[in-house]
Amino acid sequence: MRRRHLGDVLAIERRVYPTPWARKLFEDELDRDDRHYVVARVGAELVGYAGLLLVLDEGHVATVAVDPPRQGAGIATRLLLELVTEGVALGARHLTLEVRASNTRAQALYRRFGFVPAGARKGYYGDNGEDAIVMWAHDVAEAEHRRRLDALAASLVPPAVRRGFAPRPGARAPALASDPVPVGAEAGGLDAVAGSPVAAHPAARSAGRAARMDP
Ligand SMILES: CC(C)(COP(=O)(O)OP(=O)(O)OC[C@H]1O[C@@H](n2cnc3c(N)ncnc32)[C@H](O)[C@@H]1OP(=O)(O)O)[C@@H](O)C(=O)NCCC(=O)NCCS
Repeated sequence: MRRRHLGDVLAIERRVYPTPWARKLFEDELDRDDRHYVVARVGAELVGYAGLLLVLDEGHVATVAVDPPRQGAGIATRLLLELVTEGVALGARHLTLEVRASNTRAQALYRRFGFVPAGARKGYYGDNGEDAIVMWAHDVAEAEHRRRLDALAASLVPPAVRRGFAPRPGARAPALASDPVPVGAEAGGLDAVAGSPVAAHPAARSAGRAARMDP
């Protein structure tokens, strides 16, 4: 995620969260070395974003959001695959997050990534006094967890696009990206920064559009 993405990010933020983050908060996050934020795009449209903060060997998933019309197409799954992979590369060995008790959809998504509930923070959310469920995924650098991520990635439909490789001509594949995308190369970002093999959810395919992740 770059500052130039913040207009689109904030528009989604306001759509999906009752208490949206302010621009300044995102700017402060992007200024820090111990943060990793990515965005997902379908063509030129920014459709989602996610962020991770690192404290020693713990990665804290700060946010995951997908524009409502784009939900259910595997975009959050791709965002989390990227975040977890990059988090591990940056030294995270355990991951944690808070999620609203009522947000069962997000909880189901996190469970697929190996997060399990470990407790609750009573009245954590100021807007409605809702509890937060605290979830943890431990030992995320171990081979067993890598296999889980690989299975998740494999469950997304091909075509696959590899980091640093150009996509097949005409391919409109969703892809991950974690390497910095040079300004000016964004339109070709998929070629330059596509991640590990991933694929489209049937809904994404039927929409005939591609999603990709950029930092
Ligand atoms: C939670 C949220 C991030 C999920 O985003 P998403 O892009 O819809 O998530 P995904 O598509 O990766 O996965 C969601 C669903 O698609 C399904 N799906 C995704 N890829 C799939 C695939 N390849 N095959 C089959 N199903 C798939 C998942 O099973 C899941 O189904 P369900 O949630 O209906 O049970 C999104 O709903 C959102 O932005 N919510 C508002 C913000 C929010 O609550 N964020 C979390 C804060 S802790």
